[in-house]
Amino acid sequence: MKSSLFKRLFTTLSLLIIIIFSLNYYFTLRTFRQHHVLLEKENLLKHIKSIEPEINKKYLNLLELQKYINGISQILDIRLTIIDENGRVLADSQKKAMEMDNHIHRPEIVDSKTSTYGFSVRFSDTIKKEMLYVAVHKNSPFKGFIRASVFLASIDSFLYDFKKSIIIAAIFFLASGLAGTFFLTQSISRPIGKLAQAANQIAKGNFDVNIPEFDTDELSELAANFRVMSQEIKSLETIKRDLIANVSHELRTPLTAIKGFIETLNDEFDGPNKKYLDIIERHTDRLIFIVQDLLILSRLEDSGIEPDYQMFSLNSVISDTVLLLDKKARQKELSLKVIENGEIGIEADRNQLVQLFVNLIDNAVKYTEKGEVSIEIKKDEKFAMIDIRDTGIGMEKKHLSRIFERFYVVDSSRSRIQGGTGLGLSIVKHVIHNHKGFVEINSAPGKGTQAHIRLPLIQTRSLI
Ligand SMILES: Nc1ncnc2c1ncn2[C@@H]1O[C@H](COP(=O)(O)OP(=O)(O)OP(=O)(O)O)[C@@H](O)[C@H]1O
Ligand SMILES: [Mg+2]
Repeated sequence: MKSSLFKRLFTTLSLLIIIIFSLNYYFTLRTFRQHHVLLEKENLLKHIKSIEPEINKKYLNLLELQKYINGISQILDIRLTIIDENGRVLADSQKKAMEMDNHIHRPEIVDSKTSTYGFSVRFSDTIKKEMLYVAVHKNSPFKGFIRASVFLASIDSFLYDFKKSIIIAAIFFLASGLAGTFFLTQSISRPIGKLAQAANQIAKGNFDVNIPEFDTDELSELAANFRVMSQEIKSLETIKRDLIANVSHELRTPLTAIKGFIETLNDEFDGPNKKYLDIIERHTDRLIFIVQDLLILSRLEDSGIEPDYQMFSLNSVISDTVLLLDKKARQKELSLKVIENGEIGIEADRNQLVQLFVNLIDNAVKYTEKGEVSIEIKKDEKFAMIDIRDTGIGMEKKHLSRIFERFYVVDSSRSRIQGGTGLGLSIVKHVIHNHKGFVEINSAPGKGTQAHIRLPLIQTRSLI
C-alpha cells in the first residue's frame, strides 16, 4: 500500500530531528569531556611543578618522601606517584610502593621521555577506576618521573547533572519539534490532497470542479495552472465531441443515399458480379451502424441535452428490445428468455433505456454460439435490477476494466466478422451515468458473461 504524503513527511522529519538531536547530544558531551580532561591535565601539571622542589630535597630518603607525598596528595586531592629512572615506584599516595609493579612501560611514562609530559586516560589496575594520568620526566637532581592523577569519576558525576538537563531539553525540543512537523506536514499535504481530489474529478470528466484557493505562492500557482488546464481540457473535449457529431451527421446523408441505390441495384441486378454488390452492401451497413452509434454517443455526452424522463413499464421496454433481437437469436438457434418478477414501473428516458438494452442483449446474442440468453428483472425499494446472462465465449478478466472504452474490442478480428465497432458498451456506460445507475460485467472465457445493472426507480433531479 502506498503511504500518504503526510505519513512520509512526518516520519522523515521526525527521524531527522531525532538523529540531529542524538548527534548533537553525543558531540556536546564529548567536547565537554575533552575540555574537562584538558583543564584537569593543566591542573595536574601545575601541581607537579609545585611539588618538584620538595621531591628534589627528599628523594634520597624514601621514608621522608612517602610522608611528604601522603600529606601533599591529601591537600591537593590527587594521587601522586614518584618513580625512578628504571620504573621502580619510590612512593605512592594510594598504595605501598614496595607492592607495586614496575611502571616503566606505562604509556604516560613512555611518552614523558620524548616530550615535555606524558598523559593517558585508562583504567587503573591498582585502584580499579578510570583515571587521568600525567607524568613529567625529571633530570636533576632527582632523576625519574613525577606522576599525578585524578579519578575521572569526579568528571562523570559532574557530567551526570549536565546530561540530565540535556535530556530534559531534548525531550522538550523533540515534542515541540514533532508537533511543529505535524502541523507543517499537514499544511503541505492537505492542499495537495484537495488538488488530487480535484484532478480525480477532472479525470472523471467533471471539468467544472471547484479548485480551492491556497495561501502559499507555489500552491496557488499550481492551483491556477490547474484551473487553466481543466478549462483547456474541457474545451478540447467539446471540440472533439462537436467534431465527431458533425462528421457523423455529414456522413449520414451520403451513406443513406448509397444504401438506397445499392438496394435499387440489388433488385435489378442478377449476374456473376452480384456478390461484389453484397459485399458493398455489408460494408455500407457497417458504416451506417458506426455513424448511428457515434451520433447516439455524442447526443448522450452532450450535457446540454436533458434526458426526457417519463414513467413507463420496464417490462415493456425489455419485451420491445427482445422483439428487435429475436430474429437474430433464432437464426443462431439460441433461446432468448425473459424472467419477470411482476410489473416494474420506472422513471427514465425511454429511448436511452432501449439503447442500453439493445446493446447489452445484442452483445449477449452476438458473442454466444449455443445455449441461451436470459434477462431477469426485479426490484427492491429503490432500484430496478436487471441481469443479462449468456452462455457464450466470455472474456478474460483483464479486459473487463477496458470494455466500456470507446472502440475497445477484445478480439478485433472476431469483432470485425461480427460487425462490432466497440461503441456499444460506451453507450451503455453513458446511459447508466445519465440515470445515476450502476453496471458491472462479470465473465469467464468459455462459460459466459453476466451484466448486472441497477437503475433508480425514480430520478432525483437537481432543483436548479
Ligand atoms: N456478452 C459478451 N460476451 C463476450 N464478450 C463480450 C460480451 N459483451 C461485450 N464483449 C466484448 O466487449 C467488447 C466491447 O463490446 P461493445 O459492445 O462495446 O463492442 P462491440 O460489440 O464489439 O461493437 P458494437 O457494440 O459497437 O457493435 C466486444 O468487442 C467483445 O469483445
Ligand atoms: Mg456491442
